[in-house]
Amino acid sequence: MSSETILIIGANGQIGLELAENLRTIYGENNVVSADLKDLNNPHGIYERLDVLDKERMYAIIKKYNVTQVYLLAALLSATAEQKPKAAWNLNMEGLFNVLDAAKEGIIKKVYWPSSIAVFGPTTPRVNTPQYTVMEPNTIYGISKLAGERFCEYYFQKYNVDVRSIRYPGLIGWKSAPGGGTTDYAVHIYHEALKNKTYECFLSEQTALPMMYMHDALKATISLMDAPAENVKIRSSYNISGMSFTPKQIADEIKKHIPEFTISYKPDFRQTIADSWPASIDDSYANKDWGWKPDFDLAKMTDDMLMNLK
Ligand code: NAD
Ligand code: SER
Repeated sequence: MSSETILIIGANGQIGLELAENLRTIYGENNVVSADLKDLNNPHGIYERLDVLDKERMYAIIKKYNVTQVYLLAALLSATAEQKPKAAWNLNMEGLFNVLDAAKEGIIKKVYWPSSIAVFGPTTPRVNTPQYTVMEPNTIYGISKLAGERFCEYYFQKYNVDVRSIRYPGLIGWKSAPGGGTTDYAVHIYHEALKNKTYECFLSEQTALPMMYMHDALKATISLMDAPAENVKIRSSYNISGMSFTPKQIADEIKKHIPEFTISYKPDFRQTIADSWPASIDDSYANKDWGWKPDFDLAKMTDDMLMNLK
């Protein structure tokens, strides 16, 4: 039996649904508690309704299940955050403080909190963006993630909190839907290609962004959480890279499977967000410290997405 019990907060989202499945396989059904805002009628596994901003209830759930690790996934993503800046700042920061404080007080032992490529901004070098570089994000989401990273490192240095983090690129998977990000087009395009053979993209043809298949994002997350503490040398957040592509390149890849597929472009407010982010990421620190290497490129991901969505 596992000595670890995991609480996933924000477990009904794009990452949480898949992460919970993987963690249940590793730690056992009874050692993973999923929690999110809504009551669910038919949850897979143990489920609790929880608003992460309700610190008292969060502590009660941690005590009820003797939780040792928290994966904090509840956040407002880039596009939604631009529409609701105050709510985004409040959730993205206060939620993190509640979890970091639980670790500081010794109630839990380990924290996972994802950051994002959104911590970079228009003054950051865009190609092969280094781990350590200029960071002047100009989105509410990016500002909250950068502040969150600084707090994670602060809690590690000052209070010895074992917090671990990855700067995810745009994530793509077939099992769950994305929740309000700028990279969501790269999931929608596969669904529309199969259903309607056409897609109108909200980013322009040549907008290159760092992306990653969900299989790789979960592999990275679990590898980082499993790594011996002394190997986790970066306590703000690690750059990781999977692949980089433009809307045209993903459309060309889909056309190899669905020749009649067409794409058109109608950039909206998300274009400005995308233009402020890196095109590709240097992940050499993650590779050196805990052996990070992705399995999927664009061609392999497209095969897998279309096969599973069919
Ligand atoms: P998502 O929007 O799909 O899911 C977030 C979940 O959090 C939702 O189920 C929502 O109901 C829940 N939630 C919202 N407010 C809550 C609250 N107050 N209390 C409890 N739960 C609440 O997001 P995701 O894509 O799964 O992202 C998870 C984390 O990963 C976020 O921190 C996000 O910033 C980060 N991230 C995601 C991506 C990506 O491409 N998906 C990329 C970079 C970073
Ligand atoms: N996929 C995320 C977003 O677009 C990046 O953090 O918001």
